[in-house]
Amino acid sequence: MAVSGDQEKARRSDKEMRVALVQGASRGIGFHMTRALLDDDRYEQVFATCRCPASAAALEALRLSRKRSQSQLRVLRLNVLDEETIAEASDMVEAQTDRVDLLINCSGVLHADGLLWPEKRLADLRAEAVDLAFRVNALGPLLVARSFESVLRASQSARFVALSARVGSIGDNRRGGWYAYRASKAALNMLIRTLAIEWLRLPRPVSCFALHPGTVATDLSQPFRKNLSAKQVFSPVKAAEQLLGTIHGLTAEQSGSFYAYDGKPIEW
Ligand SMILES: NC(=O)c1ccc[n+]([C@@H]2O[C@H](COP(=O)([O-])OP(=O)(O)OC[C@H]3O[C@@H](n4cnc5c(N)ncnc54)[C@H](OP(=O)(O)O)[C@@H]3O)[C@@H](O)[C@H]2O)c1
Repeated sequence: MAVSGDQEKARRSDKEMRVALVQGASRGIGFHMTRALLDDDRYEQVFATCRCPASAAALEALRLSRKRSQSQLRVLRLNVLDEETIAEASDMVEAQTDRVDLLINCSGVLHADGLLWPEKRLADLRAEAVDLAFRVNALGPLLVARSFESVLRASQSARFVALSARVGSIGDNRRGGWYAYRASKAALNMLIRTLAIEWLRLPRPVSCFALHPGTVATDLSQPFRKNLSAKQVFSPVKAAEQLLGTIHGLTAEQSGSFYAYDGKPIEW
């Protein structure tokens, strides 16, 4: 039987409406997560953060693309290397909502012009590169957790997600190389696990997850995809759809774990 618009509205009580925040939403997986959340009727408000809103043309086009998303989407400045911007973004979110039900950290760095390139061997290691990888990939999401703790705690069942990477698994490391990136994602996994333990003790626990998106056709993976078949690489649209499906299916009992895009656990 067809469901009328009013019936549909009634079915979605206010209680069910959710607020999401995507950190690192200017491009790649984060941008497509934002787009998918805007398309999801359960999300009444979506905050998207990026380092430079003024040049985030894709996010602005997305905001203007539909009448609903003009009020539903708010784009805020946040650079995980700058604690002041994290605090400012959380103040702005707190001014506009009483809670955040889902916070997804998508920012990450594998290579950066002249600063960082995945090492093939120990001789390639540069301290500044390791420092950048750790600050963006590991410390960044934890600083975000600290600033957004109060809005997450205000939700009945908040989820805090960080995009990690399978290469950050210590048990699964069979090929070596990529010292900075691997170690920064392993550190991220430890921080997520530690945070999950602390947040499980809250009166309203916040669940924390580290997720591997698979290999996804974005700027980050572009230099390393040459030998992969089309089947081995997901489009960012598909990756966002898979990750959100998995995120919505995860339960509080699974908090503090590392999962792939398909919901399969990954060893630490
Ligand atoms: N693509 C893959 O195959 C793959 C595989 C495994 C894991 N991952 C992980 O998935 C996540 C998303 O990757 P992606 O493929 O979508 O990468 P991407 O297309 O290169 O996008 C990276 C995002 O991180 C943001 N970012 C970089 N430095 C930042 C900083 N200091 N502060 C705030 N934001 C910053 C970028 O913003 P700007 O636009 O301002 O640079 C951009 O939005 C990353 O954590 C990555 O490690 C990706």
